[in-house]
Amino acid sequence: MDDWQRTAQEIEGLEHVPRGVIAYMRAGHASAYPPIFESASGVYATAVGGRRYLDWVMGKGPLTFGHAREEIDRAAFEAARRGQLRPGLSPDYGAVAAQLARLVPPMRSSAFAKNGSDAVAIALRLARVFTGRGWVLSSGYHGWDERVSPSGAVDAILPAREAGVADFGYDLERLAAVLAADGDRVAAVLVSPEPAFLGAPFLEEVASLARGAGALFCVDEVRCGFRVAPGGAHALFGVEPDLVCLSKGLTNGYPLAAVGGREDVMASSRDTFIFGTYYGEAASLAAARVCLALTEAERPHEAIAAVGARLSEAMDAAFAEHGVHAHVLGPPSMPTFLFAEPEDEARFFAGAVDAGVLFFQDDAQCPSAAHEVAHVDETLRALGPVLAGLGRPARPASASGETIDRYARRRGILRG
Ligand SMILES: Cc1ncc(COP(=O)(O)O)c(C=O)c1O
Repeated sequence: MDDWQRTAQEIEGLEHVPRGVIAYMRAGHASAYPPIFESASGVYATAVGGRRYLDWVMGKGPLTFGHAREEIDRAAFEAARRGQLRPGLSPDYGAVAAQLARLVPPMRSSAFAKNGSDAVAIALRLARVFTGRGWVLSSGYHGWDERVSPSGAVDAILPAREAGVADFGYDLERLAAVLAADGDRVAAVLVSPEPAFLGAPFLEEVASLARGAGALFCVDEVRCGFRVAPGGAHALFGVEPDLVCLSKGLTNGYPLAAVGGREDVMASSRDTFIFGTYYGEAASLAAARVCLALTEAERPHEAIAAVGARLSEAMDAAFAEHGVHAHVLGPPSMPTFLFAEPEDEARFFAGAVDAGVLFFQDDAQCPSAAHEVAHVDETLRALGPVLAGLGRPARPASASGETIDRYARRRGILRG
């Protein structure tokens, strides 16, 4: 009997739910990860059956203030009580756009949608309408569906298609070569920043190559926004994009995404049709208004970086102490545990769940402003026996370079 069958026997109705639950269970979780939670508050989540876990997943990033921050939830519930789906926009639509213009300066004009891939799809549509061109050259993950996923590597499919998204694998030479040959077909160059590997010079060069070809430079900050800085990596590195996509961290957990940027590009929305039934719903926009006000006042990204640095240092020390061939890759607000041996990785993440700690297996951990040093200590205490079980004799120092390369390939970054 697998975990899902066992859980389905215990929880009413689950026999009518597909095992994959639209892939949520497979997206970055150890097999031992409990599938159903009753509640969550601060940095803890309680699974069905009553077991409490210390959570470093934070909804895969969005919960910059931790679970159930009271002021944000109250604003969302109150807005819904005044009409959740009104005949037109709620006043928060403009209020949140104005807050974004202040917090993320390239977003002079913004529109809202429901999730990160929606925001990216809207950005691509606007770029195509604005430039009159079909191609998008992309690097990194932008969502699961065909509107935003590359159909293949750029050199293999560029000549064959009139419109589409092609992957240049964070490779500047490839990007430059394609733009030199076919730049007049390219509407936008779209990048999900990877601050662990690529800093300001990379984003600057992408921006300059895109603009040199008359294409727009779009950054997908869904993962980095409100985590490394309110705007994300472009803000951290001081690079000005034409369009920015945000979602995680905008509301502390409510379904909202934003696409914003140059007013002339955003105004292309008049010349096309972009619509979602729930795009103007009131509760998420109210949550965003309060979440952004708290972000301006409390600067959660600073607390996130500080506690993330503590977690990174403590994990690196614990890996070394127990002879585990693993290390932490930064930046501190997005610490990623890299294991030299894949079987150690699987055992570590499953062992952590057994020990009462939830980690994001395939990606960076997501500390929040609700995490404190005491939670780092609690984590390390719980993980002691797990790490002790993984220790091995010393290995050559080259292991860490190989491990980083393997992770870079997993994130779609071509290296070497
Ligand atoms: C960089 C990036 N872009 C887009 C997305 C897609 O967002 P969503 O899952 O809300 O559609 C993600 C999700 O993890 C992401 O990390």
